[in-house]
Amino acid sequence: MKVNKIAIAALCVAACQVAPGVGEDTSGRVASATPVAGAKALKYSPMIFGHFIEHFDTQVYGGLFWPGHKLSDEDGFRKDVIEALREIKCPIVRWPGGCYVSDYHWKAGVGPNRQPMWNKAWAVEDPNTFGTDEYVKWCRKVGCEPYICTNAGTGNEEEMSDWVEYCNLNSGKWGRQRIANGYPKPHDVIYWSVGNENWGGHEIGAKTVEQWGPLVRESAKMMRGADRRIKLLAAALPAEGWTLPLLKAAGRLLNYVSVHGYYVWGKGDTPYLACMMRTERPEADIQRTIKTLEKAGFGGGKIAIAFDEWNLRGWYHPGLGNFKRGAVMDYAARRQNDVASYYTMADALFSACFLNTCLRHCDIVKMANFSPVVNTRGAVFVHDKGILKRTSYHVFWMYTHLLEANYAPLKVDCGTLTDGKASVPVLDVVMTVSDDGKRRVLAAVNKSPDKAVEFDISALSSGRPTSVSATVLAGASPDDYNDIGAENRVVPVKTTFTVKDGKIVLPPHSLSCIRID
Ligand code: AHR
Repeated sequence: MKVNKIAIAALCVAACQVAPGVGEDTSGRVASATPVAGAKALKYSPMIFGHFIEHFDTQVYGGLFWPGHKLSDEDGFRKDVIEALREIKCPIVRWPGGCYVSDYHWKAGVGPNRQPMWNKAWAVEDPNTFGTDEYVKWCRKVGCEPYICTNAGTGNEEEMSDWVEYCNLNSGKWGRQRIANGYPKPHDVIYWSVGNENWGGHEIGAKTVEQWGPLVRESAKMMRGADRRIKLLAAALPAEGWTLPLLKAAGRLLNYVSVHGYYVWGKGDTPYLACMMRTERPEADIQRTIKTLEKAGFGGGKIAIAFDEWNLRGWYHPGLGNFKRGAVMDYAARRQNDVASYYTMADALFSACFLNTCLRHCDIVKMANFSPVVNTRGAVFVHDKGILKRTSYHVFWMYTHLLEANYAPLKVDCGTLTDGKASVPVLDVVMTVSDDGKRRVLAAVNKSPDKAVEFDISALSSGRPTSVSATVLAGASPDDYNDIGAENRVVPVKTTFTVKDGKIVLPPHSLSCIRID
């Protein structure tokens, strides 16, 4: 990892400021963490560090798939993207949508005679040169699991189960078709979902609540009829009104419910503090989903939650969902999603808080997919000369490299951060432990834009250390970001925190992974 001197200087300055300030409560109390008595450490699913991709703007074409480019391999895949995703141990990537899938017909995207198709969701043509075989091949190069989301908008049960057959069988019309297309070995795609956000009017072929449960049930029967090994998800909502009837009709055939979360909207210039005020929303979404699962009799992890699209920022696409006569899709506006300066410490810290929330619910949240993986709001921006790792990329790197494999519950006491009438706890901290219980690592977010926070960790360590090692992502300011030509402005920095009277100091606008064993 590169050591960034400017970032170190910023940390040193920050560490000296411990007084309460703008936006922070004035209680003056020292934050602290204590283990929850009697609580067991639980193994969490690494699938929470997953991602998502669909044909929107330059995510696929001109993103991860760029045939003929000097940085691409013989299959047209950008090698720098593959390497970057391998570096963050990307475990799973969901495809082909998203809204896009509700009008996607996979058969046009396999074999030698690819048919370009017009996609009504995003109102764009898909040349279909990146189809199922290319996607699975790309996943295998990245080292991640493929996860296919099916078309439950204009598609039907048979098209979905034919897809499972094509990917996973060596027999039947579609299994044989895959072999004829040059793939003698099954693709072995284990994760499948029925539909995407079919509850929404923005979705092509949206369904009513009465239609949804039976359609999922029949699709699931046919998909499992092709391969009983598959793990199945279905488009759901935290809201009981949609998900309870779904679970009653089809719950016994599902392994996960799929829910999505985007927390600020617009071009991407929502101020830092407003973004921090959203850090507790994923918790509320999870709580509501758990309640619904319990009410349907699938609580306690019988059906897991997959947050299979999430990001602080919703994608910017004026015109989507407006099907009125004369309404225009503003394609040029979609390019605004890639303005480098939008991806600041707000993105990094929201992402860390989101992942901490998943860790706190690791008994039930078993998958999450950052939306998307490249370009638009992705962790990686792909351009003609290389790639840019946005701030959120480094959060994935820190979590997949520095945390231990089990989550151990903590009680955290801290002050609040306020923005107008809204407020949230200033800290978000989780503890992870190794299988043998010997190594412990904290992931600690200090959301304050301008103040360091004293944090008492004396109840967590058995000895009386005078220092602990840490890796910190903070940037020089809350609005700091990486850019072409300034790729390493915001990167993780290895450092040491002094422990004084059992307390460390967490720098402002920072994520710290702290080893406390
Ligand atoms: O804005 C991203 C889009 O948002 C995804 O395609 C869809 O699933 C969600 O509504």
